[in-house]
Amino acid sequence: MTFFINPYQVRTADILLQKGFNVLLHGRNPTKLAKTLSEFKSKHPQNRIESVTADFNNLEDVPKIPEFIKSNHLRVTVFINNVASTDNDLFLFEENPESVMDKTLNTGVVFFTKLCYRIVPILKEVNGKTIMVNIGSGAGNSPVPYLAVYSGTKGYVLVRHLVEISYSMLTSSTSLSLALSLLNLQ
Ligand SMILES: NC(=O)c1ccc[n+]([C@@H]2O[C@H](COP(=O)([O-])OP(=O)(O)OC[C@H]3O[C@@H](n4cnc5c(N)ncnc54)[C@H](OP(=O)(O)O)[C@@H]3O)[C@@H](O)[C@H]2O)c1
Repeated sequence: MTFFINPYQVRTADILLQKGFNVLLHGRNPTKLAKTLSEFKSKHPQNRIESVTADFNNLEDVPKIPEFIKSNHLRVTVFINNVASTDNDLFLFEENPESVMDKTLNTGVVFFTKLCYRIVPILKEVNGKTIMVNIGSGAGNSPVPYLAVYSGTKGYVLVRHLVEISYSMLTSSTSLSLALSLLNLQ
């Protein structure tokens, strides 16, 4: 499983660890990640807990998570993608600094898509049920004023899953995840 770091995300990972899952934590900040890893390891000494860094604003980092999974022979059954560029200030669309727009699009659309592209085959290798959860937002259904680009990326998460559902229903064990994604967790 992969994860991202903030208090409620940490709580979710904690619950999964209590349920006996091993966890692969992802973050972009090595210091923050090391601290969380160390806290989890002392709290859950029985579980295998690993970590990997990748910056979703840097497309060269796209292979890092899938390569970590493959090189460590991890069997991934639950994949949760919570990352979003949420530290945006509010701007009229045309006044949005281009660097902020690039970050939001890279994180929420390009990296996201390329990561799913690499993770779905990993999930399909598992003999049994697997699940992918990509965190959406109400902004995907009802675009938020002054957050045009962010809202667009969340709309993209929904559209992509509509496509993926028809694919997975035909071919793979990941359909449960896609149904969950459609719930558009907020
Ligand atoms: N908060 C809301 O009201 C709300 C409502 C609807 C949906 N959501 C969705 O819920 C999810 C979590 O949001 P949140 O409110 O909890 O915000 P958050 O705390 O800012 O969580 C976003 C996470 O994404 C990570 N992240 C951001 N940019 C990244 C990058 N370039 N590379 C790697 N990781 C990156 C952040 O890492 P760092 O810890 O290093 O910053 C953080 O852990 C998001 O998908 C968001 O769209 C939130």
